[in-house]
Amino acid sequence: MKAIRGATTVSADTPEEIRSAVKELLLAIQEQNKLSTEDILFILFSNTGDIRSLYPAKAAREAGFSGAALFSAAEPEIDGSLPLCIRVMLLVENCFNVQHVYLRGAANLRKDLKKFAVALDGPSGSGKSTIAKILAKEYNILYLDTGAMYRACALQALDDKIDLRDESSVEKMLGRMRLHIEYESGVQHTYLGGRDVSEEIRRPDVSMAASNISALRCVRLKMVDMQREIAGKMSCVLDGRDIGSYVLPNAEFKFYVTAAVAVRAKRRFDELKQKGYDVDLKTLEKEIEERDRNDASREFSPLVRAEDAVLVDTSDMTVEQVVAQIKSKIQEKV
Ligand code: DC
Repeated sequence: MKAIRGATTVSADTPEEIRSAVKELLLAIQEQNKLSTEDILFILFSNTGDIRSLYPAKAAREAGFSGAALFSAAEPEIDGSLPLCIRVMLLVENCFNVQHVYLRGAANLRKDLKKFAVALDGPSGSGKSTIAKILAKEYNILYLDTGAMYRACALQALDDKIDLRDESSVEKMLGRMRLHIEYESGVQHTYLGGRDVSEEIRRPDVSMAASNISALRCVRLKMVDMQREIAGKMSCVLDGRDIGSYVLPNAEFKFYVTAAVAVRAKRRFDELKQKGYDVDLKTLEKEIEERDRNDASREFSPLVRAEDAVLVDTSDMTVEQVVAQIKSKIQEKV
């Protein structure tokens, strides 16, 4: 069981304002914590004494949260406290990455929870995803693997036998493709329709196709929209090629993570071997070089180091050293 905190404010003590603020707060908590209503066991509200026209617990029941045990209490009058404020605590099950949610005027109560984004860009095999997963865990924020989204587009195109050079067919495919990113036990899963393709998209043929399809403007526009929508809702670490330069140019922290081609090829080789793929190191090295060229030379939103991104060359570094370096850079800025 986990506890989630939240708070919001109303602009006036009216039942309508309280209904709308409570509903907005509970839906935001539910969405950011990926909860179904059955996962919520208990909702405890407290409100400042200037709220008298409706119990927040009643507003929660009206908003459909009637399965949980609901309770409201008035807070003592404390000088200087934020007026017209509703605070909440939820006890929940099946939540792996607790996100506390402070909305409206209450956002100022917890400046430490201010939303932020960490952009990790760089070529394939530089270690971005390993580092991103660790950072997300340590900061208790979401990890969004944007490469998985381009890989899913590529898999769909391969399945549909679409010529990747034919942009209009790819565009039609995007219209019918049902790509969803879900988080299960804190781990990103990529779905095409109802099918979990998280493993399939790692196939070597999908890697090459992803590099080609991700050069298409229509593909990037659609994926970037999805990425911005996810990152707009909560703090996250995103890894990709153009996060700091294009997707989130205002990201609070930007890093460009790279390594020598031979080092990256060896890392991919070890990873694929471990998964049981029969691969050749020299071929992988050539493929990586080709993907680098593809990713960096495409016209629209290429792989590039954003001017304000910190360069991290991981060739001779352990994962722990890279994570420590990035964390210390983040610390310097906060
Ligand atoms: O990081 P990855 O190898 O899973 O990415 C697969 C392909 O998707 C890669 O060749 C480049 C492309 N990509 C991209 O163009 N922009 C991103 N933000 C992420 C990946």
